[in-house]
Amino acid sequence: MWIVVALLSVLPFTLFDFWYFIRGTLVLLIASFESPVKDILKEQTVRGVVLFQDIDFLGHMNNSRYFRECDFARFSLYIRNGIFHVTRKLKANMVLGAATIRYRRSLNLFEQFKIRSRILCWDEKAFYVEQEFISCRDSFVCATMLCRQHVLYSTPEKLLQTLCKRKVECPDFPEELQLWIKYNLASSAKLKA
Ligand SMILES: *[C@@H]1O[C@H](CO)[C@@H](O)[C@H](O)[C@H]1NC(C)=O
Repeated sequence: MWIVVALLSVLPFTLFDFWYFIRGTLVLLIASFESPVKDILKEQTVRGVVLFQDIDFLGHMNNSRYFRECDFARFSLYIRNGIFHVTRKLKANMVLGAATIRYRRSLNLFEQFKIRSRILCWDEKAFYVEQEFISCRDSFVCATMLCRQHVLYSTPEKLLQTLCKRKVECPDFPEELQLWIKYNLASSAKLKA
């Protein structure tokens, strides 16, 4: 009997990345209890610390871990600013269309960091989000990520209109973002050719 219980309880961990689902659920719960952030352009911060699970052979946070941490930070961002809620309300969905990260300095074991996330701007199809890993030790930006959050079955403008009940002005596209969008288009054109 106990063996069956033990086997059944390890099953989710062997079949799925179960920690991801547990952590994701926790992030959703915590963010829903935190105070909402009315300004959708306002940057938001979550904290983290490098643990044993995160490190690779070099003893620092492994490169794919950054993307995973960014995912959780974006969950929190969208829940607190209401985009998550309005996306569900309009039966839309969001997927990641592209993401590029630039590593500047390692995050080492037990190092504490913050992830600063903010929506930079949007076009007819997607939001552009910037996320930065900042060491709590000296506030150095250890990594910076740009991503394109594609909106399915709706548009960023419609989501924002429903959320804010008015037309929201899109900020100017920063130069590096314009270049990055060009790079994405060139890459797409190459693959379509
Ligand atoms: C690196 O990070 C990924 C994603 O979080 C994880 O699945 C993997 O186990 C980590 N460890 C190593 C050594 O790559």
